[in-house]
Amino acid sequence: TGQVTYDPGFMNTAATSSAITYIDGDAGILRYRGYPIEELAKHSSFLEVSYLLIYGNLPTPEELTGFDGRIRRHTLLHEELKGFFGGFPRDAHPMPVLSSAVSALSTFYQDSLDPFDDEQVELSTFRLMAKLPVIAAYAHKKSIGQPMLYPDNSMNLVENFLRLSFGLPAEPYDLDPMMVKALDLLLILHADHEQNCSTSTVRLVGSSNANMFASVSAGINALFGPLHGGANEAVLNMLRDIQTKGMQPEDFMEKVKNKEDGVKLMGFGHRVYKNYDPRAKIVKATAHDILNKLGGNDELLDIAMRLEEKALADDYFIERKLYPNVDFYTGLIYKAMGFPEKMFTVLFAIGRLPGWIAQWREMMQDPQTKIGRPRQLYTGEGERHYPAS
Ligand code: CMC
Repeated sequence: TGQVTYDPGFMNTAATSSAITYIDGDAGILRYRGYPIEELAKHSSFLEVSYLLIYGNLPTPEELTGFDGRIRRHTLLHEELKGFFGGFPRDAHPMPVLSSAVSALSTFYQDSLDPFDDEQVELSTFRLMAKLPVIAAYAHKKSIGQPMLYPDNSMNLVENFLRLSFGLPAEPYDLDPMMVKALDLLLILHADHEQNCSTSTVRLVGSSNANMFASVSAGINALFGPLHGGANEAVLNMLRDIQTKGMQPEDFMEKVKNKEDGVKLMGFGHRVYKNYDPRAKIVKATAHDILNKLGGNDELLDIAMRLEEKALADDYFIERKLYPNVDFYTGLIYKAMGFPEKMFTVLFAIGRLPGWIAQWREMMQDPQTKIGRPRQLYTGEGERHYPAS
């Protein structure tokens, strides 16, 4: 009843109130629980930021140790869940493998599915935080035909993930502190972004009182799309395409501007940021440094920088307020770390997990929450009748 507002893509509709993340798209401001992203990127860690998002305040040192410890305790995957990976084709994309395995967690942990039992919600939180990076690393190992290592709980989440992704049983794995720091930073930058497509999906699914694993699994599938998290993989494919075809960035830009075959400049544009994306600024500032140390592909970085330079001076992009987003430079860094393109969006998912969890928990506790159920404008046939025989 009442008037229905038509707002495709939810350009102007706030579907919820939230106290987690603040964005001012015109001013290029992003804050988690009030803390500017620049300060968190400089001083915090992914684990600390995860705590901040989920519980609302920065942890004391004891709280952080407790949080870290509980995550470490839950890293092991059920052996039967490990068998799951054998059921996918060898060349399976790790994103659907990730979402399927996360969905399957609700079959293994039936004791923590009640969204309104605080202890169960805590347990699911730790299980998910601990196991998602392990599942992600196993999806990668499966795709390259290497054995899956057991987690080593003397390591924290990020260290463990790197070892599980790149380590081999035959030799010790030397953690590169530079790589740990770089990945930790990128995960911080991805940790939450208010009501983006995947987070809204997590909320919509959760609004039916679906459990945390089921809701997050749906979010992973939303993140898979190239207009959302899949953009980081699409950026690298675009840069490589320009490189292998020997195309000039200028010629590529013409194709984009003429909307030839729907070509977009991937890694550019954002629904909310119309000035700049503060995350992209931080990534760009560190990309050179990180790539120098990790030995990244300079030619692709050069192409990316030339594209950015051209775009920022071009009326097409200026008029539409299109700036590089977080995905524009991250792929180059992931590549330099040794991850294949298919893993890029998985890394985004690991980063976004605490945000999804925080938003899901906030929604479950909000007395205003109702099942998500948008309206529509019907454009089909009027009533007609089945032909009498
Ligand atoms: N390259 C070329 N043109 C673009 C681009 C782009 N990357 N992005 C938007 N435009 C054009 C678009 O064609 C439209 O032009 P016109 O007014 O002539 O029809 C205008 O700019 C407005 O774009 P829109 O698609 O209506 O804007 P939106 O808010 O619906 O979409 C977006 C936002 C991020 C989906 C879009 O900018 C895009 O597709 N970008 C490329 C994919 C990408 O990098 N996604 C990552 C987003 S950030 C992190 C994340 O969520 O993963």
